Amino acid sequence: MQLQAAPDLVVAPYLIPFTREPSTMQIDPENSKVPDLYRLMIGMVVPRPIAWISSADADDRHNLAPFSFFNAFSVSPPILGVGIGARRGPDGTIIKKDTLNNIEARGEFVVNIVSLPLAEKMNHSAGEFAPETSEFEAAGLTAIAGTKVAVPRVEEAPVSMECVLHQIVPLGNSNLVLGKVVFMHIKDEILENGQIAIDKLKPVGRLSGNAYCKVEAGSIFELLRPEI
Ligand SMILES: Cc1cc2nc3c(=O)[nH]c(=O)nc-3n(C[C@H](O)[C@H](O)[C@H](O)COP(=O)(O)O)c2cc1C
Repeated sequence: MQLQAAPDLVVAPYLIPFTREPSTMQIDPENSKVPDLYRLMIGMVVPRPIAWISSADADDRHNLAPFSFFNAFSVSPPILGVGIGARRGPDGTIIKKDTLNNIEARGEFVVNIVSLPLAEKMNHSAGEFAPETSEFEAAGLTAIAGTKVAVPRVEEAPVSMECVLHQIVPLGNSNLVLGKVVFMHIKDEILENGQIAIDKLKPVGRLSGNAYCKVEAGSIFELLRPEI
């Protein structure tokens, strides 16, 4: 099929549309390059919450990194899921990220939630530091011992969920890590009548590229469920 960009739509140079209906670009993932799919997916599935994962290796060296392929999937049992991609090593081969290595080695990790005042430190912790470098120190954060897990959590985080590994589902070069929450820390300052006050939590959402979003007064609205 001969493709022609509709005049009302600018097609980004990296995208190869599979086909086109009026005003709609259509993509077949089977025929797309991985970097193109990545850019599309992180632009379409938005905003994403951020799991700021603290972990430790077998020698108890601490690690901290953000992951936005993240969500909660079950309450009973309480299960969180995180998609951890691969990275290229110095020789170009595909290698595992430290977080995945640590979760496999220790079977434990902590999901800390990023509030707005912690956004820059979260971003700093995403740097590709060597395994022997603690991102806690690099970002100026405090590692505090877990209660039910033997890996650290971020003392400054408003919420920390201690997890034990439930299952790792291989997905090509990525892995979906499912963790069961075994203990929760919620700072009093974000609580109101025993509930989490979203305007106090001030969570940060990930958009595409280097973009993030805030959750604040004026951007929150309610919808009542239909009564049928
Ligand atoms: C906001 C944000 C979200 C990220 N989300 C992911 C993700 O979902 N999956 C992933 O593999 N990497 C993600 N990254 C990149 C990792 O944080 C980065 O590769 C980090 O260096 C991994 O550290 P580690 O090797 O210590 O595990 C994200 C980075 C940022 C800044």
